[in-house]
Amino acid sequence: MHLSQYVLSIAILSTGVNAFYPYVRPVAATTSVLEKLTSRFYPYRLGSSVEDEVSGFPTFPLKKRSTMARRQNKYSVVQGNPPTTPNSVAVDDDGQDFSYFFSMDFGSKNQSMWMLFDTGGTNTWTFGSNCTVQACELHNTFGSNGSTTLQVSTQPFDVGYGTGTVSGVLGTDTVSFADFSLQLTFGLASNASSDFTNYPMDGILGLGRSNASTTGTLTAMQAIAQAHLLHSNILGISLQRTSDGAKDGEITFGGVDTTKFTGDISYTNISAGASGWQVPIDDAIVNGRPLNFTSRSAIIDTGTSYIFLPPNDASAVHALIPGSSPAGQNFNIPCSTNATVQFTFSGVSYNVSPKDYVGSATDSSGATCYSNIIGVQTTGSDVWLLGDVFLKNVYTVFDFDQNRIGFATRNGTVATTNPSVTSASAGSGATNTASSTTLNTASATPSTAVPTSGAVSLLTHSLWDSITVLVSVACLYTFFII
Ligand SMILES: *[C@@H]1O[C@H](CO)[C@@H](O)[C@H](O)[C@H]1NC(C)=O
Ligand SMILES: *[C@@H]1O[C@H](CO)[C@@H](O)[C@H](O)[C@H]1NC(C)=O
Ligand SMILES: *[C@@H]1O[C@H](CO)[C@@H](O)[C@H](O)[C@H]1NC(C)=O
Ligand SMILES: *[C@@H]1O[C@H](CO)[C@@H](O)[C@H](O)[C@H]1NC(C)=O
Ligand SMILES: *[C@@H]1O[C@H](CO)[C@@H](O)[C@H](O)[C@H]1NC(C)=O
Ligand SMILES: *[C@@H]1O[C@H](CO)[C@@H](O)[C@H](O)[C@H]1NC(C)=O
Ligand SMILES: *[C@@H]1O[C@H](CO)[C@@H](O)[C@H](O)[C@H]1NC(C)=O
Ligand SMILES: *[C@@H]1O[C@H](CO)[C@@H](O)[C@H](O)[C@H]1NC(C)=O
Ligand SMILES: *[C@@H]1O[C@H](CO)[C@@H](O)[C@H](O)[C@H]1NC(C)=O
Repeated sequence: MHLSQYVLSIAILSTGVNAFYPYVRPVAATTSVLEKLTSRFYPYRLGSSVEDEVSGFPTFPLKKRSTMARRQNKYSVVQGNPPTTPNSVAVDDDGQDFSYFFSMDFGSKNQSMWMLFDTGGTNTWTFGSNCTVQACELHNTFGSNGSTTLQVSTQPFDVGYGTGTVSGVLGTDTVSFADFSLQLTFGLASNASSDFTNYPMDGILGLGRSNASTTGTLTAMQAIAQAHLLHSNILGISLQRTSDGAKDGEITFGGVDTTKFTGDISYTNISAGASGWQVPIDDAIVNGRPLNFTSRSAIIDTGTSYIFLPPNDASAVHALIPGSSPAGQNFNIPCSTNATVQFTFSGVSYNVSPKDYVGSATDSSGATCYSNIIGVQTTGSDVWLLGDVFLKNVYTVFDFDQNRIGFATRNGTVATTNPSVTSASAGSGATNTASSTTLNTASATPSTAVPTSGAVSLLTHSLWDSITVLVSVACLYTFFII
C-alpha cells in the first residue's frame, strides 16, 4: 500500500479522501508574492492507493460532475437546528463532519451563501457572479445582479493555496446573519481553482484572531466590533457530530449558549507572541497515562477537519493506543478501539471520542482504520493543529477581548432521529487532572444517542459517493494586494 504523501497539485483529481489543512510556511518579508502564493497550502490525503480505491474510498469522476447544470448547487448539506439563543446561527455541515459552515445573507436581496467559518484565517470572500470557472458554476455566486447595494472596487485580492488561488476584486455590501446586519468588505472571486468543486461552501468567513488584514480592510470581527453590535467580542461555538445524527451545532456571537455545555468554561490565555488562536497545551493522555509533553501549543481551527501533530508527537500518542501501527504520516488503529484520548488545557482534560479520532477503514475487512490524528508538522515542531476532530468534543469560546480560548464539556450531541437509544460510551466528558483546579466537570458524561437509521442515511450520499471530500480551507492571513 502506498502511504499518503504531500501532493502539491491535482491531488483533488486523484482517488482517496482528500483534505486540506492550512499551512503557512514562514516567509521572509522580502519574499515575492509569487513565492508566497505557492507555499500556503498543502493538500493532505488520508490514504492514497489503488487498494484504497477498491476498498471503498470515494472516487472522483469529474465526468459525472460535468452533467450538472450551470449554477446548480447540488451539494449535500445537513442543516443545523434553528438556534434558540440570540445572536446565533445554526451550524450546517457536509454530512461527513469534514467542513462546517452557516448561511449568511448578502446584499439588498439577502442572498443566502454558505460560508465556511474559519478561526484559522482572517479573510472573507465569496464566489462572484462573473466567475465562469467550474468551481464557481457549481456554487451559489454573488454579484451586482443580486444586490443593488453592492459596491465593487478595483482593488484586487488573492487567496493562495498549494494547488491554486482564489482571486478577484474586493466588494462592500451589507451582510446579515444571526440577529444583525453590517457593512462588510469581502473578496468577490472571479477565478478559483478546481479544488473548490468539492466544497459545499460558497465562500469563507475569516474568524481568525488577528487584526492584520493585508488589504487594509476590516476583518469580520473588527467590523462587528466597530458596529458596536456585541457587548463582548467573543464567539461561542459548538459543532455537531453527524454520526450521532446531531444537528445542534451553533455559533453564538457575543456570548455563549449555556445549553451547549455542562460545567464551567476553563480559559487558557493565548500563547505569548501568537497572532492567531494558539494556546499552550499541557499534555495528551492516552488510557489515563500522560505522555509528559512539555512546551507544546495548539492552534484551534474550525477550518481544519483533522488533528495534526508533529510526527514524533503523533507517534508517541499512538504508541499508547493498543494495536496501532505507523503507516507513513498516518497511523492504523483498530476500528474498534476504545482507547481514551485526552488533551489537557490549563489543568483540565478533554476527551476526544473514538467516534472522532477513528477514521475510515483502511481495507474492506473493516478491522483496521486510519487514525484521524495525523503525523504532520504544520507549523512549528512544538505546535499542534487541532481541528474539528477535537472541537466536536468541546464547547469553545474564542475571546477576542481577553485574548484567550475557553473550553467546556460539550452538552451531549443529542441525536434528533432516535433520542431513545442511548449509549454511555465514547462520550466527550472532561475530567479534572489538576489537583489545584476544581471545575464542575468531572462527572459529566453526556449521553450520546446512537441513531439506528440516523440522519446520515437521510442524506443524499450520491454526491459524496462520487466526489472526494475536501476538508479544510482555513486561510491563514492570505489576503494581500498584488
Ligand atoms: C434582509 O434581512 C434584513 C435583516 O434580517 C432585513 O432587515 C431586511 O428586511 C431583509 N431584506 C429583504 C429584501 O428581505
Ligand atoms: C469580473 O471579472 C473581471 C475580471 O475578469 C474583474 O476585473 C471584474 O472586476 C469582475 N467584476 C466583479 C463585479 O467582480
Ligand atoms: C447573477 O448572474 C449569475 C451569472 O449569470 C447567475 O448565476 C445568478 O443567478 C444571478 N443572480 C441573480 C440574483 O439573478
Ligand atoms: C485562474 O486560476 C488558475 C489557477 O487556479 C490559473 O491557472 C488561471 O490562469 C487563472 N485564470 C485567469 C483568467 O486568471
Ligand atoms: C485587535 O484590535 C482590538 C481593538 O483595537 C484590540 O483590542 C485587540 O487586542 C486586537 N487584537 C490583536 C490580536 O491584536
Ligand atoms: C443540555 O442542556 C440542557 C439545558 O441546560 C439540559 O436540559 C439538557 O439535559 C442537557 N443535555 C445533556 C445531555 O446534558
Ligand atoms: C491571562 O491573562 C490575563 C490578562 O493578561 C492575566 O490577568 C492572567 O493572569 C493570565 N492568566 C494566566 C493563568 O496566566
Ligand atoms: C509520564 O510520567 C509519568 C510519571 O513519571 C509516568 O508514569 C508515565 O509512564 C510517563 N509517560 C510516558 C508515556 O512515558
Ligand atoms: C476497552 O474494551 C475492553 C474490552 O471490552 C475493556 O476491557 C477495556 O476496559 C476497555 N478500555 C477502555 C479504556 O474503556
